[in-house]
Amino acid sequence: MALLEVKNLTLGFNQPDGTHYNVVKNISFELKKGEILGIVGESGSGKSLTALSILGLLPYPKAYHANYSSIKFDNEELLDRTDMQAIRGKKIGFIFQEPMSSLNPLHRVGYQVAESLMLHQKMTKKQAQKEVVRLFNLTGIKNAAQRYKAYPHELSGGQRQRVMIAMAIANKPDILIADEPTTALDVTVSAQIIKLLQELNTKLGMAIIFISHDLGIIRQIADNVIVMKSGKIVEKGKTEDIFIHPHSAYTIALIS
Ligand SMILES: Nc1ncnc2c1ncn2[C@@H]1O[C@H](COP(=O)(O)OP(=O)(O)OP(=O)(O)O)[C@@H](O)[C@H]1O
Ligand SMILES: [Mg+2]
Repeated sequence: MALLEVKNLTLGFNQPDGTHYNVVKNISFELKKGEILGIVGESGSGKSLTALSILGLLPYPKAYHANYSSIKFDNEELLDRTDMQAIRGKKIGFIFQEPMSSLNPLHRVGYQVAESLMLHQKMTKKQAQKEVVRLFNLTGIKNAAQRYKAYPHELSGGQRQRVMIAMAIANKPDILIADEPTTALDVTVSAQIIKLLQELNTKLGMAIIFISHDLGIIRQIADNVIVMKSGKIVEKGKTEDIFIHPHSAYTIALIS
């Protein structure tokens, strides 16, 4: 049975003049336990919105999804759930495309991760602090104990990204959604982060949805791939099959 089952997902935006338009159009896919699923496609094809809708993070009510759409996690419907905070950050972790938009600029980074541990795992402040330092070490943040006290603006882009990853994996989620987790980073840091995600996948069996423009990275880490264009899935299947025998003209163009 699939861990996550997205069926006929259609979503879009209402406009001030009363009209609306769909940006994701009737897409279906699944994610199995321990699987790494890659999502590729041009800018604006709907990758981030698809990912955000899984956690109910679209800007409702400006955004909407069709009433025939379904997103099931562990066989439970997620769309229209009102208690998403029970899932968000606990069962499903999210690494956002822009770390600054999800880190609170006014709070120390260590505290922000600790807060999530205290909330979801009922850790004491002391236990949480200790665990955050462990997570910072795990994600390759140097001088983890000192970094705990840093504010987001005091960190480099790579360090902020690692804080985001630490936060996303803190509660050992069943699924980690990584939206362009390495796009803003240089090649070396990017390679280290990919390696870390692969380890989380093999060691903890964490299923990952990995969104990227970078076909090289997708080919390296994903078991299966979906290719999106203009809000639709134009191709999906096993990574190797798609890279060796792409069917759609768009995928062929993307690969070459
Ligand atoms: N808040 C919003 N209001 C209206 N339209 C939006 C909003 N957010 C996104 N869109 C539109 O939805 C489409 C899909 O956006 P999305 O962010 O999912 O693209 P993407 O595939 O993640 O692109 P990128 O690779 O650049 O990150 C885009 O055309 C975008 O303009
Ligand atoms: Mg995006």
